[in-house]
Amino acid sequence: MTVPDLTHRETRALELMDDPDCDLVALERTYRHFALVNGVVAGWRRVYRRRIRPLLEASPDGRLTVLDIGSGAGDVPRALADRARRDGYHLDILAVDPDPRAHAFATAERRSPVPGAAPGRDATLAFDRTTSRALVDEGRRFDLVLSNHVLHHLDPVDLGDLLDDSARLATTLVLHNDIERSRLAYLLYAAATLLPFRGSFIRHDGLLSIRRSYRVDELRREVPAGWKVEGQFPFRLLLTRTGTPETDLEAAAEAAAAQGAGGAAAHPGGTDA
Ligand SMILES: C[S@@+](CC[C@H](N)C(=O)[O-])C[C@H]1O[C@@H](n2cnc3c(N)ncnc32)[C@H](O)[C@@H]1O
Repeated sequence: MTVPDLTHRETRALELMDDPDCDLVALERTYRHFALVNGVVAGWRRVYRRRIRPLLEASPDGRLTVLDIGSGAGDVPRALADRARRDGYHLDILAVDPDPRAHAFATAERRSPVPGAAPGRDATLAFDRTTSRALVDEGRRFDLVLSNHVLHHLDPVDLGDLLDDSARLATTLVLHNDIERSRLAYLLYAAATLLPFRGSFIRHDGLLSIRRSYRVDELRREVPAGWKVEGQFPFRLLLTRTGTPETDLEAAAEAAAAQGAGGAAAHPGGTDA
């Protein structure tokens, strides 16, 4: 097997699932495989233990509102809600994705929203076919805003918009979890996906995702002040930011108003943060 040059990010080749005209049967199969692949590679168990559970412990009623941006098949928010429920806490999660195919899959009736949860009591999980920008425009706020495997899909403008949106939407914490590009990650993923996952995009898109993903130092150069990039073992990176309290948003809005419509207003997700 030839290993491509991984010195630089691949930014031109697009993943098969991002093609609106891709094979729908293979796409559904890919969505179905996401739970297994994310469960093995994405490291949410540790992120939950180190970043989310402490917030739940600190919350007076043991509850948090959560936004998952780019939720795809919905397996990550479902697993987080279930994990919190088993710890005796409550996550009230909104999972959004503008892709109609992802939304249809995530909301198909045969998948229970949160396994074992009494609806509306132990955990709640809702899906909406929308974007982070639309939620900003609606003035929505969440304690915690997160994403999985979204950063490497985006061009620089969309990445900037996502960071701006997530900083505005979160009152407490933003967690963007993604792959860190490496030759070893590529070789291991290629070996692990050689035989299983036939008829789905898991192998092709996963290998391309590794090629499209950042190294820690590259992502640090891309993000505005206020964001922190940490490598996570193995082959992961976590981009985090403390949220924007209501008072800061009000101050930013007042500054924007004072500068007038044409002024370059300080905003929570921008370089002024
Ligand atoms: C590879 S999928 C990741 C799906 C899922 N999080 C996972 O890890 O399996 C990336 C998704 O992000 C969505 N997306 C990208 N930018 C977004 C935004 N600003 N708001 C909401 N969804 C977005 C895309 O539609 C796409 O379905």
